[in-house]
Amino acid sequence: MDEDRLIDLRSDTVTRPTPGMRRAMAEAEVGDDVYGEDPGVNALEERVADLFGHEAAMFVPSGTMGNQIGMRLVCEPGQEVLCDADAHVVTYEMGAAAAIFGISTRTVVSAGARLDAQQLIDQVRPKDDWHLTATAAVAVENSHNRGGGLVQPLDQLQKLWNWSREAGVAVHLDGARIWNAASASGVELSTYGRLADTASVCFSKGLGTPVGSVLVSSAERIATGRLWRKRLGGGMRQVGVLAAACTYALDHHLDRLAEDHEHAQLLAKRLGVDPSSVETNMVVLDGVDAPVLAEAAKAQGVLVSQVSPRRIRLVLHLGVDRAAVERAADVLAELLDR
Ligand SMILES: Cc1ncc(COP(=O)(O)O)c(C=O)c1O
Repeated sequence: MDEDRLIDLRSDTVTRPTPGMRRAMAEAEVGDDVYGEDPGVNALEERVADLFGHEAAMFVPSGTMGNQIGMRLVCEPGQEVLCDADAHVVTYEMGAAAAIFGISTRTVVSAGARLDAQQLIDQVRPKDDWHLTATAAVAVENSHNRGGGLVQPLDQLQKLWNWSREAGVAVHLDGARIWNAASASGVELSTYGRLADTASVCFSKGLGTPVGSVLVSSAERIATGRLWRKRLGGGMRQVGVLAAACTYALDHHLDRLAEDHEHAQLLAKRLGVDPSSVETNMVVLDGVDAPVLAEAAKAQGVLVSQVSPRRIRLVLHLGVDRAAVERAADVLAELLDR
């Protein structure tokens, strides 16, 4: 099938830069960012720090690097980060916390990946008991990828944060899709940002850039983060071409996320999925023969993601317009006999 006719619902990472974004990239003023001289990167970092109510920010090539450096800044080797069992940081980041930083991770199985602050708090291990691996940080994901794009409840985030201040445990936010969470919940980005010590946010998912994430935190932590980024080979030079894409995305793609969420609702309704289970830009089909459905859909030009042998995930993004949503719904509804 002609590649342009494919409807790619596998992920929101598959978007291509739009003509406007490409122009912004082509026209970007650049400098050497390892010298701190790229004006576009500096402006982006300042803007994102401000958006999330933090002192400082650092541009990184990927969400994985943002998460891993973020966790390292609040956790020493030999200590642990606690998170839910389906978190991206322990599922899809290739054991980086252990492999690179000597950080131990421990997980709790939460209902549908929804944050239950008390459940995490109950598992935290103290720092002053020499029998135990100390829990230095808790990591939270919002929206939650394997949770089907669910938005974490603000009261639970607030409860975790209040507790963490007393307990001396840090909070890291994997905010790869925090934009979607904010768009769906109406909660300000700065509110989410202020409930975390370190937060990694991505531009290469729903916001549609080819590359780029930003880590926000205190000025002191970000200064140390720059050392880790360089050690990991993430010190980039005339990277303003990428920062320009991110700035363009903030200006032009943030407000349109609601459209992806509407498309997800539409798809859910057409496929008999409970619309209340769809909180942002993802639709989960449970109890299906995933390999068979994925293959049959592909044959008709619709690409879907197999999360498990019985689960398919459909992700809406700026590369899928209303007409494509309707065509995908027709194809999938027929295959599912719904
Ligand atoms: C929730 C979440 N966090 C982090 C990442 C990592 O981002 P990257 O692929 O840029 O490393 C992803 C990627 O899809 C993600 O879904």
